[in-house]
Amino acid sequence: MDIEVISTEHAKRLSAEDSLLPPPGPWDGTGATPLATRDAAALATRSEVAAGSAAALWRPLVEHRLEVRLAGSGAAAQLGELLDQWEELLGDCAPGDWDTAAVVTRPSRDTVGSDTLLRHGFAPARVIAVRPADRLGSGPPAVPGVRIRRAEPRDLATAVRLHLELNQYDAQFGLVTPRPEQERAVTDEVRRLLAEREPSLWIAELYGEPLGIVQLQLPPESDWTREHVAARRVGYLTSLNVAEQARGSGVGSALAEHAHQVFDEAGVEVALLHHALANPRSTPFWYAQGYRPLWTYWYRRPAVR
Ligand SMILES: CC(C)(COP(=O)(O)OP(=O)(O)OC[C@H]1O[C@@H](n2cnc3c(N)ncnc32)[C@H](O)[C@@H]1OP(=O)(O)O)[C@@H](O)C(=O)NCCC(=O)NCCS
Repeated sequence: MDIEVISTEHAKRLSAEDSLLPPPGPWDGTGATPLATRDAAALATRSEVAAGSAAALWRPLVEHRLEVRLAGSGAAAQLGELLDQWEELLGDCAPGDWDTAAVVTRPSRDTVGSDTLLRHGFAPARVIAVRPADRLGSGPPAVPGVRIRRAEPRDLATAVRLHLELNQYDAQFGLVTPRPEQERAVTDEVRRLLAEREPSLWIAELYGEPLGIVQLQLPPESDWTREHVAARRVGYLTSLNVAEQARGSGVGSALAEHAHQVFDEAGVEVALLHHALANPRSTPFWYAQGYRPLWTYWYRRPAVR
């Protein structure tokens, strides 16, 4: 099959599986290595970030990625062949190097080939979850005494502490990566956000004590997410953390409800966020708040064993 036919079949299957997936973009091989089997095609890319960069907090320094398009009835076997071909391109990764990963992003509901990925040593590790604006959530009853307010410059130390606490918790799931420079990188980013005219950081206070923080992006800042979802106005929930001693008492739900209100006021059609699937707090929390998986990131870290 040629790439046009594969792409058409692939697009047809995805639109039948999930109406919130965007139509696949043009097959642009710039900077990528094309791979092909009889009924499937893939583009392999490699990216690297500097150890001191802000991006390095969220990922391994070297990432190999594979974008696949599958057609025909033997899609799982075709995916297996593509993964086998890809192995050769991972040769620049030293076996066992924790700062390397091989990543395959799949539409969450296009479940074909999940077992093939497991057989090749990949695990479903991170998800982009989506929540249509009209979706109802089911959280605990509102906690008396919780107040949500815009974060101000005087909150710098609190906001940095809550972000670092989140990074430390999330690092357990193997994708967020602690770095020696992380406090400086987080402080710089929070200072930048606090100086902006439009609020993006919100603090939850319980009887005056700051116990939680949520970070949001509204259009046009969040427009980079539109390639992931079939919607024009997308809100992005960058992060949410509740101080350890206050978890499970409704503070997170109050912050999420506030975030959804801000999105509604901005005319957002869907909200997106990333979360680690193995996180036993965030996974059930987001799905109770009306989110569901849209894209699943399958990771093999290190890229080569
Ligand atoms: C995920 C997180 C933000 C959730 O915030 P939270 O304040 O703990 O959440 P809430 O208390 O508002 O909601 C969860 C609680 O609501 C209650 N609840 C859930 N659904 C409910 C329902 N339908 N009816 C009544 N109560 C309900 C439960 O008691 C639940 O807590 P439990 O699972 O510990 O029993 C928080 O746990 C956290 O900061 N975790 C660490 C960092 C993190 O994972 N952040 C997310 C990164 S993407």
